[in-house]
Amino acid sequence: MSIHSIINIGQLVTMKGPNRPRRGPEMSDIGLIEDAVIHFDETAITYAGPRSDAPKVTVEEETDAEGKLVTPGLVDAHTHAVFAGNRADEFEARAMGATYQEIAAKGGGIQSSVQQTRKATYQELLDQSGIHIEWMRMCGTTTAEVKSGYGLNLETEAKMLAVADELNDWRMRVVPTFLGAHTVPPEAASKSAYLDQVINEMLPALCLKCQFVDMFVEDKYFNHDDARRLAAAARNWNLELRLHVDQMNDSGGARLAAELDAKTADHLEYTGEDGIRALANSNTMPVLLPGSVYGIRSDKYPNARQMIELGLPIVLASDFNPGTSPTPSLPFCMSLAMTKMGMSAAECLTACTINAAYSLNLGNKIGSIESGKKADIVIWEYRDHREIAYWTGFQPMLRVINSGQLL
Ligand code: NIG
Ligand code: FE
Repeated sequence: MSIHSIINIGQLVTMKGPNRPRRGPEMSDIGLIEDAVIHFDETAITYAGPRSDAPKVTVEEETDAEGKLVTPGLVDAHTHAVFAGNRADEFEARAMGATYQEIAAKGGGIQSSVQQTRKATYQELLDQSGIHIEWMRMCGTTTAEVKSGYGLNLETEAKMLAVADELNDWRMRVVPTFLGAHTVPPEAASKSAYLDQVINEMLPALCLKCQFVDMFVEDKYFNHDDARRLAAAARNWNLELRLHVDQMNDSGGARLAAELDAKTADHLEYTGEDGIRALANSNTMPVLLPGSVYGIRSDKYPNARQMIELGLPIVLASDFNPGTSPTPSLPFCMSLAMTKMGMSAAECLTACTINAAYSLNLGNKIGSIESGKKADIVIWEYRDHREIAYWTGFQPMLRVINSGQLL
């Protein structure tokens, strides 16, 4: 086994800590080491720590970090990165005063991406989505959850999940989620008829192609009883739930996610203190998506400070999608989390690495730099971890290592 070594690391963020998500004040402890080295091979990290304690080994290949910052590869636990076309027209319409809901009511919104994604051939969808994955990697992401949900029929939902599967290689670790219940397609006889189709036709056909099941729980989309039906069906196929809740209204979605023992409750912009307390008494992890608040021109960011005070293990993700959040960049979302939600740089990094990894059931494999974990590593053009979210609006040069492969 050939050992690769990264030497001359000025600041190493290890994220080493307990083997579980970090809650509340634990989110501030990112395991910083100055003057560090890392040894790894293609299967795992074999040493990460101070240069002075490094074991003497024969090193096959050496990367000089030149005194720069090294962190775990970022983990993006909520994306819709497989889609065709774009909705730049809607972004401009919102600038001119239209709301997300008004655009959706006129047949835009999710339906617009459904039309474009249905029309695309498999190869066209793969080519465009491959570019999205490349953009994410250029921003430091090494693992991404990717949802279906722009197909809304078996054929196109299957096409999206097949594309996600093909994108899952050593350049990006992809975790697929089935989001057939994103909205109701225009050809459906009714919402309940469509949900029947999701549960009785699509889920059995696609359950081996995904690791999670998701639903958009919102006024004019799906309600709590719909989510309970989907949750029962998902359980039958041994799949865990991630739920879009409380994005545009407080419908009690956080409480619902806790009741259904969902793996994650995502968005939570409108969740009040009762919902946050319900999450605090559950195993459901909050996934906050500030890029989508920014993208729809809202000021209603989730109450991250209260979540941290009440001991929740926050995850931050991009929600990368052509409608609400056209950004592949976790550093940009961290910047928003700092300026709009009052999170610290360390809390943001924890939320985008180890906590995100646990939310995807990958916490024992990735999300921190320590012996036994996969070598998913970013070498930044920075010297201090606080610079990741501080510099914004451009793409710094990074060196990204995924599963021990220097990309
Ligand atoms: O997470 N809210 C539902 N789903 C996406 C938006 C999808 C779209 O507009 O295409 C979200 O924001
Ligand atoms: Fe989303």
